[in-house]
Amino acid sequence: MKKLQSQFVKILAATVLTPLAFSVSASEISNAELSATTCFQCHGAEGQSAGGAIPPLAGYPEKVMVQQLLDMKSGKRASTVMGRHAKGYTDDEIRAIAKYLSTLKP
Ligand code: HEC
Repeated sequence: MKKLQSQFVKILAATVLTPLAFSVSASEISNAELSATTCFQCHGAEGQSAGGAIPPLAGYPEKVMVQQLLDMKSGKRASTVMGRHAKGYTDDEIRAIAKYLSTLKP
C-alpha cells in the first residue's frame, strides 16, 4: 500500500508539476515574441523572408512597421490578408510586435 501511495505521489507530481514548469518558461517569452510567431508562418521563420511577394520582417524599422500595420488595419492601405490579420491586434500590441521584430537580425 505504501509503495502504491508513493507511486501515486510520483504520478501526481509529474502531472501537476509539468504544466507548472511549462507555464513558468512560457511567461519568460514576451507576448510580442509569441504574437510574432504567427507572422513567421507567412513572412518566413524568424522573419527571414521566404521569398516572393511577402517581405521579410526581421530588422524592419519599428516606426515604419507600426504605420504600415495601422494603415492596413484601418484599410487606408490596401492589402489582401494583412488588414484582416492586423485587426486581430490592439494598437498597443502592434507597437509591441513591431518593436520586437525590429530587434531581430535581418
Ligand atoms: C496569412 C499570411 C500572413 C501573416 C500571418 C502575416 N502576414 Fe504580413 N503580409 C502578408 C502579405 C501577403 C503581405 C502583402 C500585403 C497584403 O497583400 O496583405 C504582408 C505585408 C506585411 C507588411 C507590409 C510590408 C511592406 O514593406 O509593405 C508588414 C509590415 C507585415 N506584413 C507585418 C506582419 C506582421 C507583424 C505579422 C504578424 C503579426 C504578419 N505580417 C502576419 C502575409 C501575412
